[in-house]
This record gives sequence, C-alpha cells and structure tokens, in this order.
Amino acid sequence: MKEVKIETELKVYDDVNELPEDVQKLMSSAQEARENAYAPYSKFKVGAAIYLDNDEVVIGSNQENASYPSGLCAERTAIYYAGAKHPNAKILKMALTASSQNQLTDKPIPPCGACRQAIAEYEIKQEQPIEIYFMGAKGKVVKSNSLANLLPLGFDRSVL
Ligand code: THU
Repeated sequence: MKEVKIETELKVYDDVNELPEDVQKLMSSAQEARENAYAPYSKFKVGAAIYLDNDEVVIGSNQENASYPSGLCAERTAIYYAGAKHPNAKILKMALTASSQNQLTDKPIPPCGACRQAIAEYEIKQEQPIEIYFMGAKGKVVKSNSLANLLPLGFDRSVL
C-alpha cells in the first residue's frame, strides 16, 4: 500500500479588475449571457463565455425545464454550441459567472462535475489546455490553467 497525494494549482484574483483585459472582456460576455439564463426554478443563473482560436466568442447560459433533469448547465450549453458551430476551432479560454436570486453570490462558483467531464473531453480532443476562470456575481475570480486541474483521476478515452 502507498498513499498518493494529489495537488492542484489555481490562481485567485481579488476581483475582475485584476484580470488581463481580454479575460475581463470575456467575463463581461459571460455576465451578459448569465442575465439571459432561463432559470425560473432554481433562480440560480449561470453564464459562460468561450474564446476560440479563430477569435470567435461563444456564449451559453443554463436552460432549465419543468422536468428538472432535462435542463442543461451554462458550461455545457456553451461548449456544445462551440463544438457544433466551430468544430475545428480550439478552445483557449472559458469564463464562468453565477448569481442567485436568493443570496449574494460573492464566492467563486466552480463548474459542476458533469460540466468538468464535458469540458475535459474537448481539452483532450484538442490536445491543448483550456484556461478556466470562474467567479460568483462579484468578488474573487479563480483561474485554472487547465481543466485537468479541476478533475483529477478523470475518466477519458484512453481506457475505452
Ligand atoms: N448550473 C450551471 O449552469 N452550471 C454549473 O456548473 C452548476 C449548476 C445550473 C444548473 C441549474 O439550472 C442551476 O444552475 C442550479 O443548479
């Protein structure tokens, strides 16, 4: 038996103004997308903006459904949209923001496990890391240089 320790590396910015200018712009697109989320049940709105290597920005927001499991998170809405519209482009950066109607969301909100799995698929496919930036409605922003940092021991195509 041996013990294995898994470490990850993240950067934490005090607020959006500390981010590089291009990422601030991307986060603004995510915030705009967030406002258009369809979240009548959870009242929790999430916005995602993706920057591609062809200079395009693709956005997504969570889309809920009266049959709850039929809804989809913002991150997957955005990444599947990018995959459908720009199948050959590489995803360079992803900005995520979330806000709740029930409380002030001033802590960074990370993508859920299912979205991490979906983003990992694209990172592996393109053989290039995706930078992920996530925040709440305000406050600190967390940066991960790669999705892999957020999903240790991931399940991927190599085992199939
Ligand atoms: N949601 C996202 O859009 N992304 C996440 O990573 C976590 C959760 C959405 C799904 C649902 O519409 C609402 O937030 C509450 O879970």
